[in-house]
Amino acid sequence: MSNYFDDNDTYSSIIISEEILLPDYLPDDLIHRNKELQSIADSIKPIIKKRTPDNLFIHGPSGSGKTCCIKHILKQLSSYSTAILPVYVNCWENQTQMAIYNRIIEEMRLPLPRRGLATDEIFSKICEYAKNYKKPILLVLDELDGLRHMELLYVVARANEKMLMFGIIGISNNKELLSKLDTRIRSSLRFSEMEFKHYSEEELISILKLRAEKALTKTSFDERLLAKIARSAEDGSARIAISLLWKSAKHAEKAGRAKIMLQDLEDILSEQPSYKDEFNLSAEELLILELLKNGKLQSSDIYDAFIKKIPKTKRQIRNYLDLLEKKGIIESEKFEADGILRPKVFRLK
Ligand SMILES: Nc1ncnc2c1ncn2[C@@H]1O[C@H](COP(=O)(O)OP(=O)(O)OP(=O)(O)O)[C@@H](O)[C@H]1O
Ligand SMILES: [Mg+2]
Repeated sequence: MSNYFDDNDTYSSIIISEEILLPDYLPDDLIHRNKELQSIADSIKPIIKKRTPDNLFIHGPSGSGKTCCIKHILKQLSSYSTAILPVYVNCWENQTQMAIYNRIIEEMRLPLPRRGLATDEIFSKICEYAKNYKKPILLVLDELDGLRHMELLYVVARANEKMLMFGIIGISNNKELLSKLDTRIRSSLRFSEMEFKHYSEEELISILKLRAEKALTKTSFDERLLAKIARSAEDGSARIAISLLWKSAKHAEKAGRAKIMLQDLEDILSEQPSYKDEFNLSAEELLILELLKNGKLQSSDIYDAFIKKIPKTKRQIRNYLDLLEKKGIIESEKFEADGILRPKVFRLK
């Protein structure tokens, strides 16, 4: 009997290095973002000199390079200076105050007593560290809209009033998030805003080209393909463009070809689920998907935005949310933090 693991001879090789096409890959060269990278670095520089930093709120559409730019800067910062402790946190993955404190403690490599510490005790340990080692903490809160406890920002701001201990960089694709923050937090942290604009087609082509040159065989792609991918990527998103390139490459490999054809891309695009056709969604369900297009939202925000467009009761809207969740199109998380049940947060799956 043949071994099912045996290589299939018709499987040609287009992809040399698949990880370069994965969403979390951090490229060495980031193009078209010089100005933004320099401004982020400039906003951090004062903390290195123990001066009050410009806290920063970065916003911009999905796939516009916010995360990769900040990670690039943090990498450079670590090799440039040890005067600050940079802590990167994805708030969707670490939603509570405690989870974020734990991330900071992790970066500090501090041994903690075995007995569990209360939230405020952990925070005191963090402040002690910053004071004793004279090392301010640069806290980068990516996907800030995932944070369940905005109180964290208030606590940090209060600590800074006594002594400079924290610089904050918040990142979100929801531009309105800053204006929704409590005025106490806003007046104390005084964020400067920075916008990442979506990429133009030309910019996407050059980003794709850099990636393709590293990840794929030389003869497997051409400019025409990259231009078509750039045109097809919604909202100028580099993430979507790179993922289309990856999927097209796999599609061509499966067909046993050594070159990606425009048809591979077209096949991929036609395979993308059109929610409307596939799930036969109602106008109400489509409205919810539209609202969630730019990221996660709490149920209360969904109700508010929904009611402005279609008058329905909260119970009805909750039913639509349940339906979409059952169909596997959206997902939700509910958090019990500090003994309090928090409202549900929804996002596209
Ligand atoms: N200027 C660039 N040069 C090279 N690659 C880029 C550039 N901008 C984005 N990318 C790539 O595009 C993908 C998406 O970028 P990134 O994750 O930084 O977007 P984002 O703005 O954080 O999106 P989201 O709001 O969804 O989190 C990543 O794979 C990243 O490496
Ligand atoms: Mg991001």
